This record gives sequence, structure tokens and C-alpha cells, in this order.
Amino acid sequence: MGIFYDEKNRTFKLDTPNTSYLMGVQDDFGYLLHYYYGPRLRGTDASYLARTDEPPYTPARNGRDKLSFLDAAPFEYPTGGTGDFRTHCLEVRTAAGHNAVELAYRRHSIQKGKRPLPGLPATFGGELDCTALTVTLADDVLGLEVDLEYTVFEDVDAITRSALIRNTGAKEPALYLTKVLSACLDMDDRDFELLTLHGSWARERVIQRRPLAVGRQGVFSERGETSHQAQPFLALLTPGTTQTQGQVWAMHLVWSGNFEAQAEADQFGQVRAVLGVSPWNFCWKLAAGESFQAPEAVLVYSHQGLGGMTRTLHDLYRGHLLRGPWKDKKRPVLLNSWEGAYFDFDTEKLLAMAKSGAALGMEMFVLDDGWFGDRRDDNRALGDWYVNEKKLPGGLKRLADELNAMGMKFGLWMEPEMISPDSDLYRAHPDWAIQISGRTAGLCRNQYILDLTRREVLEYVWGRVEAILTSANIEYVKWDMNRQLSDLGSLGLTSDRQGELSCRYVMAVYELQERFCKRFPNVLLENCSGGGARYDPGMLYYSPQIWCSDDTDAIERLAIQEGTALLYPLSTMGAHVSACPNHAVGRTTPMDTRGHVALAGTFGYELDPRKLTEEEREQIPDQIALYHRFNALLRTGDYYRLASYRENHTWDCWQVVSRDRRTALVTYVQVLASANRHSRRVLLQGLDPAANYRLEGTDRVFGGDTLLHGGLPLEPLWGDFRSKQLVLLMED
Ligand code: GLA
Repeated sequence: MGIFYDEKNRTFKLDTPNTSYLMGVQDDFGYLLHYYYGPRLRGTDASYLARTDEPPYTPARNGRDKLSFLDAAPFEYPTGGTGDFRTHCLEVRTAAGHNAVELAYRRHSIQKGKRPLPGLPATFGGELDCTALTVTLADDVLGLEVDLEYTVFEDVDAITRSALIRNTGAKEPALYLTKVLSACLDMDDRDFELLTLHGSWARERVIQRRPLAVGRQGVFSERGETSHQAQPFLALLTPGTTQTQGQVWAMHLVWSGNFEAQAEADQFGQVRAVLGVSPWNFCWKLAAGESFQAPEAVLVYSHQGLGGMTRTLHDLYRGHLLRGPWKDKKRPVLLNSWEGAYFDFDTEKLLAMAKSGAALGMEMFVLDDGWFGDRRDDNRALGDWYVNEKKLPGGLKRLADELNAMGMKFGLWMEPEMISPDSDLYRAHPDWAIQISGRTAGLCRNQYILDLTRREVLEYVWGRVEAILTSANIEYVKWDMNRQLSDLGSLGLTSDRQGELSCRYVMAVYELQERFCKRFPNVLLENCSGGGARYDPGMLYYSPQIWCSDDTDAIERLAIQEGTALLYPLSTMGAHVSACPNHAVGRTTPMDTRGHVALAGTFGYELDPRKLTEEEREQIPDQIALYHRFNALLRTGDYYRLASYRENHTWDCWQVVSRDRRTALVTYVQVLASANRHSRRVLLQGLDPAANYRLEGTDRVFGGDTLLHGGLPLEPLWGDFRSKQLVLLMED
């Protein structure tokens, strides 16, 4: 495995355990062309796939039709302005106002291990488990160089790539980057379907499939964050792709700001998929000698349908993106105060809630919004990160100490990036909010965003985070972000750099979170953004878990968690049991269904345990016992989606199998009951066909092959919103 350069054919071959990616240098102009991405190949000679000899675009013989060539050739990193009229990756404006780039191969290097991307989250790997290739392309007219960096991993079928753009200074004192995407995949259309994820607040990551049409289509965010509305991801699927069959080419961006994920089917039946930072409101000034690092894109090819793609992404993120001591550890069962108390609490009430939770087996109390400044409601006080001693006499220290004394850990909510107009901070520094001079910036949840691109603002925020974190024994932080970016203007940036603001903002958040990880390595960090608006691979580099959605209803969560788990490991997915009727939809579901659904994620409670019925309370110790029993399996095992309520509108089913295939946990939710039905036969996955499995709690033993090909009958349950978990254990 690894990366090879075939000198004779000027071809690069990137191999993962089961896939190959080939590209090469075209002879006449030195363009870097894409040849192939798919199942692993033996040889390296695939340059014929670029079809550079087909008329009318044979560059060597027919310079007259260079544009025809540029507009059809499969490029590795296409540029704008010289004749490739499809969507492309790079646009550069000169001081003279021109806008054309043409890149040719200059040099390359191959090395073991992967260099970190400066200031950005990225996958990582050492000399033993990955190989990296840097191909440098150049435009000599602009004095511009582009380093395309690719990494392959020894243990997972993923390739990552990124682009670094450099103004060498040979020609222009300043260049203006107006579009820098991270990755492109040129291929022929195979009647592809396009899969993307969309949503809204409390309805995140809905899976959408549509036939690819001629023209450009895709998803994007211009909201300054990943957003509830879209995910920086796209996949092209061959027709009829299911969880187990079909070919999938997927791209996912390790980034938490504006993005564009676009596929274009062209006039020749070719397809170009591109992914990167959105060009909207983006203009990055590159002075001589400066460079711009675009975020990393993850590429996955699967010939085992969507399930194959999912498990590759899970393995990549668990093995090469998540960091810190908590990523491989069981997380404490938490009790979050938000839905149980909202803003209405004092120390005594919180301690009473915690005591009641501790008695049932909960291990950590998380104090959510409302503990600082004059934060009576969500209209004020963001930025005033000083404990409200009227509510919490003795401060966080007393609360933490009392919780610790009852055997509970203490965790805290913060929203460090925000400022309320009604806050001491805003009264002192109204210029610290992101705003355009002369225009009244729009409010959202009655708050503005701090301009973290200004050093003094970032240092203030960091100072408060650090002071709070060291003021008490805080072992967990929920880092929230409850509005999107608008009125983009920074009083700290010159006019020629205003177009850098939204990117610089995200980089400043990364800087803060990197500081957090270094300064407080043992504190468990959970990112959050009005629920799941910043659920992206970028934030996962800093926090091993992310709050999935503000909708905690077990039935609504089925689709939200299905869409989330399509890309992300279950260990990252913030999921809590909450009270009924549910606060988002008013639905009442059985307690065990709420528990089974939350068990698919990080697991915890978000309610006032004192207000539960006795019957509900009695079930909690058993739920927590299930969590302790299955957490290692759920955190490290292989995930299989067996049925989708989102698709069938009736029932949902997923399975997790341990890596040694000895244990499988099947979770089944019957959303709507129906009379006079047979059991549902579900074909299990991931089991050892040669082994036998006992269904726990019975003396029934099944062949692994029978369960895989004949299936397991799931009996109808009595009532709506019912669920059941089945455990299969390999017989020795
Ligand atoms: C966001 C979060 C919630 C809660 C509130 C507090 O909406 O997603 O979980 O923390 O903020 O204001």
C-alpha cells in the first residue's frame, strides 16, 4: 500500500487496502489530469482514460482547439478563466483586475507520515500508518504555486487531500484569491444519484437522494458555520445503491464554516464533483511570500453501498481525527439541566436534581445556560462570564464541590463566541461585535457575534474561559454557538481584507479550541450549535462528541441519528433521554424507547429526575446498566443500518457488531403498530457466517450464515413507539 510514481507514464498511483486513485501529468502542457478512482488496480497505466487523443481536443496537434480540450479533460485541480467552463476549484484576481489561472506540473515529493495543516483541523497519521504525496503546480504568469497534498492510510479505505496556494512574489506583490476549493473529482456519469444532507433547526441531517441532472447542483452554507441546513458532504451513487450494494464516491470537508459541495453533469456526460470553502463573500489577499491553506477533504470510494462508506468514515474519524483521552473512553452518564430547569434554578434546586439523578446511577451533572451575569432568559448577558452569585451563592466552586462530595462530576455550558447587546461586555465594547460600520447589525436570539479575528477579543474570550475552567473542578464543557454570521464586517480588518472575515472567524474558533485542548486536556469537550449546526469533521478534531439536535424526541431522533450516523461514529453523537411530553414535539414515548434511542449515542439525561413518574424512574438504573454494558461495543464496533423509518414510515432498525464479531446488538423501533402482521424478517450483517450465535435470554442458536441470508424475525410489538434490543452472542 502507499503512493507510487511511475516515471515512464508520469503517473501517480495512490493505494488504500481496497481502492486505487490514479492521476498523471499530461505531456504537452503539463496539466495534472485525473485518471481513475475505484476498486484497487494492479497496474499504473491508466492515462488512456483521460482520452487526450480524442478529437477535436488533441492539444499537441490541434492548438486551434485548446478550449475544447480544457472544457472536457478530467482535471485534478481545475481552474477558472482560461477555457474550462465547468465549475472549478481556483479563481485568482490580479491587481490589474484579471481573473485567469492555468496550472502546470512542477515537482512532487512522497513522504511517510502526514504533516498537520497549520491552524486547521485535519486527519493525522504517523510514519507507520500513512503516506503523503505533495504535487506542486504553478502558474508562471501569476507567480503562483499550488501544493496539492494527498494522504493514504494503511488501515482504512480513505484518501484525504488539501490545497495550499502560494504567491511566490515573482510576479505580483499581491494576489486576491476569490475561490479556493479543496478537492475535485472528475468522472464519467453512470446515471448517478446525488446524496446530500439537508435540514433545519431540530431537524438536522436529513438524507436526500436525487438523480443527477445536467447542470450544477449541490448544497452549501453561507451562514458562517456548517449550519442546520446542510452538511459539507456529497456522494455520487450508482443507480439502485443500497446499504449493502452499489458504488459510492463520497467527499466530506474537515471545516466548520461556509462551504460548497457541488456536482456538475456536463454536455459530454461527464461529472465533476467539487468541495471546499464557499466562494461567497470570500476574497483572501495573498501578499508576496504568503500562502493560504484550504481545509482538508476526505474522499471515500465504496463498492459495498452506503454501509461500506459509513464504516470507512467511522474508522477514519475514530482512528485519525478524534483526539484526546476521552475518545477511547466511556463517557460519564450525564444529567443536563437544560430541559429540566431552563433558566429557573438556584444551587439548592440543582443539587436536589443532581442528588435524585445520582441515586439512579447518573454520574455527571451538567449546568447548562443561565449561570452567569444577569442571564435570566435568553435575551441578555452573553459575554459576561462571571458567576451569578445570587443564583449560585458560593459560585461554581461550591456547586462543584458539593456535587463531587455526592460522587458526581460537574460539567458546564458556555457560549464563548457571543455577545448580548444587553451585557456589560457590550456596554464596554460595542465595537467588539461583528458589524458593518453605519449599518445596524441584525440580531438573532437577541445576540451578536464577537469578532474573534481581533486579537484583543480572542484574548478576552480565552481569559474568561480559562478563568472559569480553573475556578472549580469542571470536568466537561458544552461549547455552544447559537446564531449564524451576518452583517460581515470587522472593525479590525482593512478594507482589502474584509473578504477574509468569515474564514478567519472559523480559524479563530479553531485557535480557541486548540488552546482549550492543550490547556485542559482531561476536560471532556462537547461542541454544540443550536443543536447540531456545527456537527462537522472540523469540530470533531477538538471535541470527541457533538450535540446532535435540540429535538430530543425519540421518534424524531430516528431520522436525525440515521443521517448523522451515515457519516459520524456513534461515539460522537450527543443523545439524551428527556421528559415526556417531549419539549420539541409534545409526543409521549415509552421510557425504554427513549433509552434505546439515546443508547445509540453518547447517552445521558436531560430532565428533572424528581418530576418523572415512579415507573419511569425505576427504569433508569436498568438503562444505565445497559449503557455500561454496551458502551464499548457501541463506541468501537461496526455500525449497520438495517431499516429506515425515514424511508418506510413504520419502523427503524440498526445493528452494531463488535470488531471480533462475537457480539451483536440489534435495536428495533416499531414506530406505528399495525394489526394482523407477521414478524418482520431482517437480514443481519457483519456476523461470521461460519459461527453460531445464541439469542440472549433464549436457548435459540442460529448459524451466522442463516442470520445473514435468512434473517432474524422481529416480532410485532404492542403499541406505537415501542422498541426492543436483541443481543446475539457467538457460541464457542
Ligand atoms: C442551544 C443548545 C441547547 C441549550 C440551549 C441553551 O439551543 O442546543 O442544548 O444548551 O442552547 O440556551
